[in-house]
Amino acid sequence: MNLVIIGFGGMGRWHSLRIKEYNALGVGKPLTVTGVYDISPDRQKRALEDGYKVYGSPEEIWADSSVDAVLVATPNDLHADYVKQAALHHKHIICEKPVAMNSDEAVEMYEAAEKAGVTFEVHQNRRWDEDFLTVKNIYDNSLIGEVYLIESRVMGGNGIPGSWRRLIKHGGGMMFDWGVHLIDQMFQMIPSAVTSLYSEYSYIYGEEVEDGFQLTANFENGVKYRITVATDCLRGLPRWQVYGTKGTATVNDWAITGGVTTVVTGEDNNVQGIKAGNGLTKTMAPRANNSKNNSDLLIIRAKPFEFYRNFVEACLGNEEGYIKRDEVVRVFKFMEACGLSAKNNEVIKNTF
Ligand SMILES: NC(=O)c1ccc[n+]([C@@H]2O[C@H](COP(=O)([O-])OP(=O)(O)OC[C@H]3O[C@@H](n4cnc5c(N)ncnc54)[C@H](O)[C@@H]3O)[C@@H](O)[C@H]2O)c1
Repeated sequence: MNLVIIGFGGMGRWHSLRIKEYNALGVGKPLTVTGVYDISPDRQKRALEDGYKVYGSPEEIWADSSVDAVLVATPNDLHADYVKQAALHHKHIICEKPVAMNSDEAVEMYEAAEKAGVTFEVHQNRRWDEDFLTVKNIYDNSLIGEVYLIESRVMGGNGIPGSWRRLIKHGGGMMFDWGVHLIDQMFQMIPSAVTSLYSEYSYIYGEEVEDGFQLTANFENGVKYRITVATDCLRGLPRWQVYGTKGTATVNDWAITGGVTTVVTGEDNNVQGIKAGNGLTKTMAPRANNSKNNSDLLIIRAKPFEFYRNFVEACLGNEEGYIKRDEVVRVFKFMEACGLSAKNNEVIKNTF
């Protein structure tokens, strides 16, 4: 499978390096990056230095019968056109997230790919993040009893990086940048419908797009799921906090430090009051050590490079692609509802 990367910036080049690792590890059929297309002379130079053929125009890619597939890693507003063009010329496609600028555009892109009979995979790579898989395992196997609240956060302190991510017309903003990942993870984790949501966007830096947001989703099965994305935070909170009827789990970071605390006895009848500020509290006193059990997180490892392996198999017609049209469109519709909620300061009661 010969692949050309369109958009050889941070993520485009990252893919080229990862695909080399994938091939070297031999965990799937080879996928070979043969060429690059990027409008930036600097990026073209980089691609030549890396040993790739540099295409002079998209048309040259479409006309090249040695190219089986393209990977689109341009700013977000350019995804749709490249994907539709690639489908029209019967190239298989990987497209970076967020795949489109809205749910209608996403549907059009899928229809173009389906009509052409090509494989079209959106790079929802964070389904293979091991912090996420570790929390999903806690949820799936009720390791802290029945989970009723999940907090998922990413908190940076660098503002919005780069240029196009700060502009609406390029599909900037933190909902498209990080929300699309964290909402996709949420839907992968909770096998139930959302019955209501509420979202707030932040504009701390005065950009035209949101530099962060918070949302709460209530699921039909009783789970409440909160997502926080911040770019103004110099002292972050844990990546995950999970609350169950028998315990609490914390995942601090992508290195997956943290732990699980479960209750040994039901009620702790010997709670001693502690001095708290100017007062006394039993309610907020720590549980006695013999009434709880601390343990390490059971870390779930992902199969390396599953996304690329599955993409190649899907192109060859041997497997279905992992990232499904309905899943991608559902995330978009949910993000659109978050935008509406934030704009009008209202709870949205649709079902997603
Ligand atoms: N899945 C992930 O983990 C992840 C992480 C980062 C970025 N992304 C996604 O990858 C995409 C690219 O993000 P990035 O961080 O690499 O941005 P970037 O700005 O580093 O790179 C974008 C590249 O596209 C090129 N480009 C601009 N207009 C073009 C055009 N008309 N034709 C061809 N190339 C053009 C630019 O010259 C640049 O090299 C975005 O969709 C982003 O959301 C995904």
